[in-house]
Amino acid sequence: MPFVRLDKLITDTGLCSRSQARDWVRQGRVSVNGAVVTDPSQKIDSAAALCLDGRPVDAGGHLYVMLHKPAGLLTAARDARKPTVLDAMPEAWKRRGLFPVGRLDKDTTGLLLLTDDGTFAHRVISPKSHVSKLYEAAVAGTPTPEDVEAFREGIVLKDGTRCLPAGLEICGEGIVRVEIFEGKYHQIKRMLASRNLPVLELHRLRIGGLWLDEKLSPGEYRLLTEEEIETIQQGLLSK
Ligand code: URA
Repeated sequence: MPFVRLDKLITDTGLCSRSQARDWVRQGRVSVNGAVVTDPSQKIDSAAALCLDGRPVDAGGHLYVMLHKPAGLLTAARDARKPTVLDAMPEAWKRRGLFPVGRLDKDTTGLLLLTDDGTFAHRVISPKSHVSKLYEAAVAGTPTPEDVEAFREGIVLKDGTRCLPAGLEICGEGIVRVEIFEGKYHQIKRMLASRNLPVLELHRLRIGGLWLDEKLSPGEYRLLTEEEIETIQQGLLSK
């Protein structure tokens, strides 16, 4: 079996750049056949079992990525003319078939998951899963306790569509938080519009039990930790 530098072996999986691989190894996040190795230049049997944060990083493993979506990117795998969230991802991840889980509008910012695990994505998006999503919105107008009550009862959109009961919290002058348990087209904007509260800005804070990492600036991303993957999967299992 050929022996290869550890940082090269990790980079070859397509998970990250060479310098990121070196950082992960030095931080003690990488194990080889169950033992943590902290020297990125150590020569390793290329058939060894590699783990990052206890999670296998071989080609059979999946990628789970959290992106702080900036305004201006389409939530699509590709588009002929406009930049998409995939353009914010490293080439190696795109080659692994990463795609967005659900969608945010072009002007919406905040938490977006990307993965190459179709089963996981399907379960997060599926209406049957009722995974909660929390948004913060700046609105034109002054929300009232009557609006909170209307959300609690279930909003009827202007086209007659009835939404599931949802949470509306008034957080300050023209700022609300909305928690929904489904994912209709432009749902938050349409729900608030039905109460004469047009949305000026929209930001997603949380999906299920997973919050957007405050350390990520718009456009930045990172892999989910094993704990976070478990948090979201547990949420799905309990549905
Ligand atoms: N609801 C919307 O109206 N827009 C989004 O981007 C997400 C939820």
